[in-house]
Amino acid sequence: MAQFRRIGILTSGGDAPGMNAAIRAAAREALAGGVEVYGILEGYQGLIDGNMKLFTSARDLSNIINKSGTVLYSARCDEFKYPEGMAKALKTCKDNHIDGIIAIGGDGTFRGATDLSAHGIPTIGIPGTIDNDVTSTDVTIGFDTAMNTAMNMIDNLRDTCESHARCNVIEVMGRWAGHIALRTGIASGASAVAIPEIPFDEEAAIQKIIDQKADGKRSFIVVVSEGLVGYAEKLAKTIQERTGVETKFARLAHIQRGGKPTLQDRLLASEMGATAMKFLFEGKSDIVLTKVDGKIGYRNIKDALTVDRMFKKKLKPEEYEALSAEDKAWMEARCAAVQADMERLYAIANEIS
Ligand code: F6P
Repeated sequence: MAQFRRIGILTSGGDAPGMNAAIRAAAREALAGGVEVYGILEGYQGLIDGNMKLFTSARDLSNIINKSGTVLYSARCDEFKYPEGMAKALKTCKDNHIDGIIAIGGDGTFRGATDLSAHGIPTIGIPGTIDNDVTSTDVTIGFDTAMNTAMNMIDNLRDTCESHARCNVIEVMGRWAGHIALRTGIASGASAVAIPEIPFDEEAAIQKIIDQKADGKRSFIVVVSEGLVGYAEKLAKTIQERTGVETKFARLAHIQRGGKPTLQDRLLASEMGATAMKFLFEGKSDIVLTKVDGKIGYRNIKDALTVDRMFKKKLKPEEYEALSAEDKAWMEARCAAVQADMERLYAIANEIS
């Protein structure tokens, strides 16, 4: 630990409820070890511009565990992807004696973290994204809060649907991943759920609404992932035409990114923030934290990004061939486990809708 003088912490990409709890935990762990902390503002852009604030005491991080957003602000930064941007970021680290960085965010954040590690700044990633689309971990920070927010909004729509005997098709966030849609669909009693990972049977969904209406049901909820770009709005029109049920469309959008973090997110963020700092002090670098089967662990960032691409079926054949037998085995097993879990939940969603 002696080699660390100052640590930088940044949040980058889309904000996620619980990021503040992760910042607080990581910073306090460092301060407890006698290491000062720079809060780098607006992600990698702040590192390029030297836009930072120094935390010298735990009091500098008081009363943020319960707040959403990120006190360090966030941004998506193109400049950092180029050598000139990286050179400025490295100069900021050198000038300010920053010997290590904790980067909280999603896959774009991890790409930046692995680049920094390769340039001699030990960097550790913490998965903070509402999308839960980091395949090597069961959960990401912000996922639980976003689902609860979406569920509560859908409950509100259910109330008015019931009064007016309507259907509401709701598009939820998640980028290319259907995790939020799948779980909020189940939790809000949706008649149907459409996600990118599993083919959607539109005919069956429409027939279900027709049958449910005939059975006396008045309100209908259909949850669609934004990953099926533009589909939710079209589906609302089709349902109205085919079932005769007046159907509204709602896009929940960024409302899902705000709101007080849930206990689950605060806990996960606190565990991951403190552990990430411990790992950095132990000399680890170029890793992303994970939580699998209830246990905090880590994966090399390159592997974490590769298994994400494998899950999204975006891995090029030559990339696949270049993997070691051991890596192929765990990555394939991981993708199969995530897919199987989604299929299991999807089947339940259909059975009980
Ligand atoms: O990654 C988080 C996320 O909220 C996605 O669910 C969504 O697709 C995207 O970010 C929206 O990005 P922006 O905040 O740039 O509009």
